[in-house]
Amino acid sequence: MNTIERAMLGQSPPPMEELASVPPGDSPAPRSVDHIIERAAVIAKPEPPPVSPPKRTQRSTVLDFDRLRAMGMLVPDARRSQIKEEYRHIKRPLLMNAAGKGATRAKHANLIMVTSSRPGEGKTFTACNLALSIAAERDRTVLLVDADVIKPSIAKTLGFEADRGLVDLLIDAQLELADVLVDTNVPSLTMLPAGSTHHLSTELLASENMRKLAVEMSNRYSDRIIIFDSPPLLVTTEASVLATLAGQIVMVVEASRTHQSQVQEALALLDPNQIVGFVLNKAKRVLGADYYGYGYGYGYGYGYGYGADQRDGAEE
Ligand SMILES: Nc1ncnc2c1ncn2[C@@H]1O[C@H](COP(=O)(O)OP(=O)(O)OP(=O)(O)O)[C@@H](O)[C@H]1O
Ligand SMILES: [Mg+2]
Repeated sequence: MNTIERAMLGQSPPPMEELASVPPGDSPAPRSVDHIIERAAVIAKPEPPPVSPPKRTQRSTVLDFDRLRAMGMLVPDARRSQIKEEYRHIKRPLLMNAAGKGATRAKHANLIMVTSSRPGEGKTFTACNLALSIAAERDRTVLLVDADVIKPSIAKTLGFEADRGLVDLLIDAQLELADVLVDTNVPSLTMLPAGSTHHLSTELLASENMRKLAVEMSNRYSDRIIIFDSPPLLVTTEASVLATLAGQIVMVVEASRTHQSQVQEALALLDPNQIVGFVLNKAKRVLGADYYGYGYGYGYGYGYGYGADQRDGAEE
């Protein structure tokens, strides 16, 4: 039976390789229909390709420690330095509270917001140094979040490029936290950059998504310290919105420039029961001899308490 006869009987033609193997003039030996159907079935049902889960590759960056050291920042090395000693004192009460061993118990005490009353007082400088200082502790991991979404500067200060970040995470339901994190060459330090600019930044920071994210960050990584670099309280509404999410506030006060009234005005924007610590930054004073005896040019003052009447740290 040739191909046309098979077709007239409703049978499929033989496969091409069978035709190719038949010498010209000869008809191929008749084969059962079952055989053809079997082969057709095999062709119609190719093996499905293995489905692999979508890959989420975490970004990473290499911080230039020489550059950071030249900026007066704390870098991970064995050298004893003034700034290391200063941040040792600044972080101690923060870590005690985060571990629930402080004088005051606070919800989400591992969420620490660094803010100030005015711009330029040294919030980003303090947030970065605090993060580097805590990351140097054994068994501590730190997530440094650039929550100054209006004027982000963590990436610029630490010297890395970051396109996506917090804002993207808040507006794009497809993104997960891991998609926007940036690992660093400080093994226990991860960063969450601010990401895209958005005209509704206050609303985003006040959104339910942001609240859920803060709770997730605090609970999922309860041994992790999360530091928010934030905008100044007296200039934006974002900062006071963020403060409602944080368990502890670090108020940076620029020595000799910020007035006590400004600090009080800023504190009035916070919940009076919130834990607030103070860092007196850029102080031009010689540290006391009992105070490790290192030079001057940078100093700190750290007041600590909850309740406005216990707050100090500002210079008139
Ligand atoms: N203690 C310090 N020693 C040396 N330089 C400092 C110190 N604190 C801040 N600076 C420098 O002062 C400048 C302003 O600091 P920073 O950017 O941290 O302020 P900020 O409060 O985050 O400002 P903004 O309100 O604009 O976000 C930066 O150039 C920073 O490197
Ligand atoms: Mg800043």
